Amino acid sequence: MKYFIMFGPPGAGKGTHAAPMVKKYKLKHISTGELLRSEIAAGTELGKQAQALIEKGDFVPDVVVEGMIANTFAANPHVKGFLLDGFPRTIQQAIDLDEMLESRDEKVTGVISLMIPDEEIKARIKGRALVEGRADDANDETIANRIRTYHAKTEPLIEIYKEKGVYHEINGLGTIEEVQQRVFDLMDEIC
Ligand code: AP5
Ligand code: MG
Repeated sequence: MKYFIMFGPPGAGKGTHAAPMVKKYKLKHISTGELLRSEIAAGTELGKQAQALIEKGDFVPDVVVEGMIANTFAANPHVKGFLLDGFPRTIQQAIDLDEMLESRDEKVTGVISLMIPDEEIKARIKGRALVEGRADDANDETIANRIRTYHAKTEPLIEIYKEKGVYHEINGLGTIEEVQQRVFDLMDEIC
């Protein structure tokens, strides 16, 4: 089983590129952000707890997202692999993912890291706000908090995955088609 991680700051294009990747490489897509938004839309207890945190641009507790990941792994025993989008994003989540995979006698296959500068993050999120209406795209302070939180809590994972030899960085600037070609070229190498 292959385990790929789609890594990058908010608005880097993780979701945009995950969709064609799962089709081409026959992977199961797990977006923790999308799963949380579904819980909010369905009005579940978990969704109610997550909503306030997400709307401020804060992370939900590790245990919540890890439960969603474990459930999706368990519910998909026959897929070729998984594409994790937006997970892990804290050091603790990376440690816990390793444990989850070790218990299955598996490990992370590759991290595909899409990199864009902070100014581009803001521009892309403002563009998406006009189209998708996500609550966490709606105000500048939430967007700024998401960017700060990424640098403080998620960026340190880069060193962890570099040390494991599975980190691959891609320039996220350019047209969607240009970036997608870079992603596919990398996947063809590491898949
Ligand atoms: P999540 O939904 O994962 O949000 P995010 O990480 O902030 O990332 P985004 O979905 O905003 O961006 P993306 O990289 O997918 O970019 P996209 O392809 O849409 O998480 C939301 C929240 O849930 C978190 O803030 C947190 O509260 C919580 N959460 C989720 N996971 C968690 C975890 N593991 N632990 C704790 N809490 C968690 O592209 C963005 C826009 O740019 C789109 O409009 C797109 O069309 C456009 N675009 C893409 N590529 C290009 C390009 N090359 N040129 C021009 N425009 C482009
Ligand atoms: Mg996304």
